[in-house]
Amino acid sequence: MPRSVETAEVEGKKVLVRADLNVPLENGEVADDTRIRAAIPTLQLLLDRGATAVSVCSHLGRPKSEEDRAKYALAPVERRLRELLGDDRLSVLENTRFNAGETKNDPDFARELADGNDLYVNDAFGSAHRAHSSTEAVAHILPAYAGLLLLDELEHLGRLLGEVERPFVLVAGGAKVEDKLAVLEHLGGRADRVLIGGKMAEEVRDHNPLSYPVELPSDVVAASSFAEDAEAEVAAVDSIPEGWLGLDIGPETAERYGAIVEKAKTIFWNGPMGVFEWSRFAAGTKAVAEAVARADAYSVVGGGDSVRAIQELGLADRVSWVSTGGGASLELLEGKELPGVAAIPEA
Ligand code: 3PG
Ligand code: MG
Repeated sequence: MPRSVETAEVEGKKVLVRADLNVPLENGEVADDTRIRAAIPTLQLLLDRGATAVSVCSHLGRPKSEEDRAKYALAPVERRLRELLGDDRLSVLENTRFNAGETKNDPDFARELADGNDLYVNDAFGSAHRAHSSTEAVAHILPAYAGLLLLDELEHLGRLLGEVERPFVLVAGGAKVEDKLAVLEHLGGRADRVLIGGKMAEEVRDHNPLSYPVELPSDVVAASSFAEDAEAEVAAVDSIPEGWLGLDIGPETAERYGAIVEKAKTIFWNGPMGVFEWSRFAAGTKAVAEAVARADAYSVVGGGDSVRAIQELGLADRVSWVSTGGGASLELLEGKELPGVAAIPEA
């Protein structure tokens, strides 16, 4: 484990904090402040322990051109952060990706960020899989420490990689199996059951790229087209009408998956079972989310869409850990070293 901010000598120091404040915006306002709230404990700790200045930096989106600057400015994020934590010693730097050096892990940009600061704290778990100036290079310039969220994420996700209580059930959904192949192989290979839903179930049915057998849907909610109001009916997987698409797992599958999940002692869930943004195709995802919540298990939900589902259903507090990382949580569970973590001296 990287050394904790709790062990740092903070009194009278100026601290640069890298947080992951890459949040969704809607009409120029923060649409979901989960990541901002998750960054508060570390900032509060630094202020409580007498830091004279705390400068927070983060990327937002993937700005490409000059015109993207208005769209990806951190101002709305800063407004929300100040509502949650009003302290004059706190400041928010501009989107790190406005500097072309950031994504190249440019040491000159890292020196610019470090300039005037005494310490660096990385709390950006969601960006820890990126070797960028603000997550990696800067950790070699200032004395570096891990923030509380980063440590919490490593501990909670890391538990899945150690000895787990069984049955250990992994539920994977979403669109592309390629994106999840590594985690399915690494973590799924250690699970007792692997349940596949979402669009990737079709791919796996045609050809299972994994080295072990998985559970697949037996029925789907089939739709005449990819549209919210498309004609739809429940169909067995071998009798989906010609040209129709499966937009959710069917009720029989939802019940079977729910029963398996409910009896699990350890659960990792990544990716929705269907197009849950459309209520007619949300039942499968909802059934899985409810089973995860009901299970008397150590349960972890990671990855943007399943996290959104569990939050929208109001079930987040019945899950052991809801990760703030998408790609970062998958890479960690693939067994990869995260550059943002590796750059911090060990405890
Ligand atoms: C995320 O939201 O996945 C992280 O903030 C990383 O963003 P990125 O994929 O643009 O590097
Ligand atoms: Mg991402």
